[in-house]
Amino acid sequence: MPDARTPESGTPSEARKIRVQCEVNGRAVTLESYPMARLLDVLREAGLTGTKEGCGEGECGACSIELDGALVNSCLVPALQAEGAKIRTIEGVAGRDSSCGDDLGSERLHAVQQAFLTYGGAQCGICTPGMILAAVNLLERHPEPSEAQIREGLSGNLCRCTGYSKIFDSVVAACRLTPPNAEPLR
Ligand code: FES
Ligand code: FES
Repeated sequence: MPDARTPESGTPSEARKIRVQCEVNGRAVTLESYPMARLLDVLREAGLTGTKEGCGEGECGACSIELDGALVNSCLVPALQAEGAKIRTIEGVAGRDSSCGDDLGSERLHAVQQAFLTYGGAQCGICTPGMILAAVNLLERHPEPSEAQIREGLSGNLCRCTGYSKIFDSVVAACRLTPPNAEPLR
């Protein structure tokens, strides 16, 4: 079986770009990429720079995206794996407030994004897109998660700034649709 990186020559440096057809944030797109390029890089080079690189080794979750509904670390996903897939990045979260089951338009933040703003869930912001995607993914699977489910849902995402409590507060507030001026839940 030929090496996907090396369709003809056998040397990675001579790998040819391929066209990857997929859906990104609801739009059909064709991405040009080397087969084993990291999906993280391919998406960022396509202008979707909301997805961040932290460790680059699958440990921090900063590069989290959804691939066919599953949360994945895009630094570990080769571009060719995106063929035919449905991808959601942080840019695809706003305007899709799942609590209402409706597309509310790109001007409106998702409840999780609004809660992160209200409850100080973001500081430097490097982990924030991945955290928010992890929280949105969790709430779409479990609209009323337990504390343990929230902690489990965020367990693949590391934050060096917040100490996690404000992130946790933000997710609790989002899933309960707490009014913006309410006290953080403990
Ligand atoms: S950058 Fe991908 S898991 Fe850290
Ligand atoms: S806000 Fe800085 S790493 Fe989480």
